Amino acid sequence: MESAEFHHALALLDWQVELGATEAICDAPLNRYEAPARIDTPKQPQAPATAPAPGQVDAVEEARQLATAATDLDCLRAAMEGFAHCDLKRGARQLVFSDGIAGAPVMIVGEAPGRDEDLEGKPFVGRAGQLLDRMLAAIGMGRADPDNPVYITNVLPWRPPQNRDPSPEEIAMMRPFLERHIALAEPQVIVIMGNISAQALLARRGITRLRGTWAEAQGLPALPMFHPAYLLRNPAAKREAWADLLELKARLSRG
Ligand code: URA
Repeated sequence: MESAEFHHALALLDWQVELGATEAICDAPLNRYEAPARIDTPKQPQAPATAPAPGQVDAVEEARQLATAATDLDCLRAAMEGFAHCDLKRGARQLVFSDGIAGAPVMIVGEAPGRDEDLEGKPFVGRAGQLLDRMLAAIGMGRADPDNPVYITNVLPWRPPQNRDPSPEEIAMMRPFLERHIALAEPQVIVIMGNISAQALLARRGITRLRGTWAEAQGLPALPMFHPAYLLRNPAAKREAWADLLELKARLSRG
């Protein structure tokens, strides 16, 4: 490649990085100038997610049936692997199911995998996950701690593109799997990490108001907390997170 061409290509690449591109999604470049022009058709009114058009698959109902049929966590994982109605699956490298020890008294429910989790296939392994591990260690717990283990999952098992918030439809579609996951893991308490998890499990948002007060999710005590990613951006909120961790610990020792 001529030197000028090289520098031009490098400048274009830098520009993409500045725009926020973090990874290549195709092996070969795609010339969008050569792609046929898209013809925008007027939008048809959308039926609500809960009422599929006649003949259309009811994805939520299918998720519910698959989840109900799963008799253990391996079956549930296989059922989720085979569930094809959630578009997030197409953009993700793999399903991120859980980490930690199933049957642990505490089940932590986060939001959705990010880039690191998508690569590794485990929840909370990136920067937020490392902070979560330090938070748990501070109260003598950990995902690999044989004496005081936790079990960790997310509302969504696939990474949303560009780490966008999952839509209400995606949350509703995957909720039957989350509910079954909780039932099969049999925790004593649930920790609700952040707004998406609060929306999925409590049908409420507003983590600043919800955090630190015990609620009930699926018949279990559930403690909403600030998400560790939020704590990375707002270190001052670690004071409240610490109070919530102590509350969690106290609740566990009360039995
Ligand atoms: N944030 C989450 O909510 N879950 C993960 O697994 C990683 C980051």
